[in-house]
Amino acid sequence: MKGIILAGGSGTRLHPLTRVTSKQLLPIYNKPMIYYPLQTLLTAGITDILIIVAPDHAGDFLKLLGSGKEFGCKFTYEIQDKPEGLAQAFIIGENFIGEDSVTLVLGDNVYEQEFADEITSFQKGGRVFAKKVSDPNRFGVVEFDADQKALSIEEKPEVPKSDYAVTGLYIYDNSVIEKAKSLTPSPRGEIEITDINNLYLQEGTLDVAFVKGQWFDTGTFESLNAAIEFARSRELM
Ligand code: G1P
Repeated sequence: MKGIILAGGSGTRLHPLTRVTSKQLLPIYNKPMIYYPLQTLLTAGITDILIIVAPDHAGDFLKLLGSGKEFGCKFTYEIQDKPEGLAQAFIIGENFIGEDSVTLVLGDNVYEQEFADEITSFQKGGRVFAKKVSDPNRFGVVEFDADQKALSIEEKPEVPKSDYAVTGLYIYDNSVIEKAKSLTPSPRGEIEITDINNLYLQEGTLDVAFVKGQWFDTGTFESLNAAIEFARSRELM
């Protein structure tokens, strides 16, 4: 199992905080944001990790994280030239992934849960993690039938079919590379991870599990602050 942390994007919603640094380097209490998704991969025993960054602050990530030796793992770095979608991680990372399966975690997602079992037990298809939220239209939203079987996933729908967001941790088999290459950009000019999930869903191989504990996507000031409060109370516990 390989790991990818996607830390691209320009973080414009967090201006002026992100004018001179990358969103994923902002502090979440006493650590840079990217430490949290990194921890998610490390606790699952993933030691071969690709970090994909935007060109602007690429050097700062290298300075912060280095080779990986300090963390007991090995980092590879790639640049995402433009924010052309989460699914591009699998095209940029094609050589890195090789013949393996891959776990992608977004560089701005903070989880309370550890996912060691969910990642080590993975065999094939796709596995994603949904969480009930109050603002589903900010996210990919899962539609369930009466038996809680996933029917569809919609990216940032105006009228969400449920309150369940797909969160930023995705486990896929090697076919994700070909799936990513087959996508066409959405109206926002990105190749969408939601489209990848729908391809697995159509194949009948997408496992939609639920996040246990708290989860934060730190894309807004409110959610950033909530993540900081969470990290602080956990440190002081
Ligand atoms: C992305 C995905 C979305 C997912 C979210 C989780 O949103 O497109 O499906 O629910 O991450 O954080 P974005 O970061 O592009 O707003």
